[in-house]
Amino acid sequence: MKDLEDQAFNLRDGDRIYLDHNATTPLATELVPLINEWIKAWGNPSSIHCSGRGPKALLRDARKNIADMIGASPQEIVFTAGGSEGNNFLLKGAFEEISKSTGRKTILVSSVEHPSVRDTAKYLETKGAILKWIPVLRDGTLDLDFLQKNLDETVAIVSVMAANNETGVIFPIKKMAPMVRAVGALFHSDFVQALGKFPVDMKKMDVDLASFAGHKFYALKGSGFVFIKRGTQIQPLIHGGGQERHRRAGTENSLAIASLGHMSKRKDEVSAAYVRIAELRNKMEAEIQSRISGVEITAHQALRLPNTSSLLISGIDGESLLINLDVAGISVSTGAACSSGTPEPSPVLLAMGLTRKEAQSSLRLSLGWGTTESEISRFIDVLVEVVARLREAHIVRPLEASL
Ligand SMILES: Cc1ncc(COP(=O)(O)O)c(C=O)c1O
Repeated sequence: MKDLEDQAFNLRDGDRIYLDHNATTPLATELVPLINEWIKAWGNPSSIHCSGRGPKALLRDARKNIADMIGASPQEIVFTAGGSEGNNFLLKGAFEEISKSTGRKTILVSSVEHPSVRDTAKYLETKGAILKWIPVLRDGTLDLDFLQKNLDETVAIVSVMAANNETGVIFPIKKMAPMVRAVGALFHSDFVQALGKFPVDMKKMDVDLASFAGHKFYALKGSGFVFIKRGTQIQPLIHGGGQERHRRAGTENSLAIASLGHMSKRKDEVSAAYVRIAELRNKMEAEIQSRISGVEITAHQALRLPNTSSLLISGIDGESLLINLDVAGISVSTGAACSSGTPEPSPVLLAMGLTRKEAQSSLRLSLGWGTTESEISRFIDVLVEVVARLREAHIVRPLEASL
């Protein structure tokens, strides 16, 4: 455990305090010498000759470690380049199959999904799907009554993420699985934010399809995988060679996949580390609320990821706060998506029923394995000072500018 914190998964960027681990994590430093070794296996894993053996072995070991980590069998794992590809692949590929074979057209998707699910669902609508958004309540939890009422024999797929990237809310996948199964629909879940933050077991969760990304788990970017439950029919997204048992064409990114496979062996330490991170997060929230007035913690009462904190700070524009913290050497995030130069308030927060003004005052903090107590106390000191300064200067984005 100490070892895990020490090597701290920090290829540190000077004194910068990095509180944006839900966007991406630093590379685990233990991977650096391993990657130097793996680079020597530069052949094509599909080659039959000798040069293919090394990379093939990397893929085989990674597949086994990943399958063990999530309680799956190696045949149920398909490598991808990350979470967005995984979500596109699973939703498009499964909808095509199930709608053709059963005539089912309805897809039920939670309204707080990552854009790679939301936009794929909208795309499927143009291909004949009947799309229904499952609402969330103001406390961030899913409207299970809506789900229950809308589950019938016309439903092809239900897609609900395991944990939300902005609020950290953990959704009750295990509870929903039998509801979905009872009507014969497929259950897809985006597990990108769950990996490494709580134990994941596909058998217990009982989903048919799940997507994962390596770069939220201290592995190299460009690595990811999907879980496809044995027997589930799915069309490939990428056509071509026969890699991944004809489910994902293209030469595998063996180096990045090996890094993800290696991190998968650390799952027990990961769970232990998150006990400390949850304590640190809780302490941080309590101190922020005691030192700054008008701070609301989004989804405070809901079951949340141990590392995530989404704050609403009244009278403050989240973007201005982010920029000021950046200048002070602290990396954080808001849920806003920048389109045509105007930051749009987070669709996730709007879906929870927050006003645009409230959503514009949001700040997301996501801690990681390397985050220390002293970093958090330095961060809070800076936050207190910046919020006071912005409030004094009345730096609140004029609402009309973004209407
Ligand atoms: C919940 C969730 N799903 C999917 C993605 C997309 O993953 P990737 O960036 O690997 O494509 C993200 C990335 O932030 C995410 O948080």
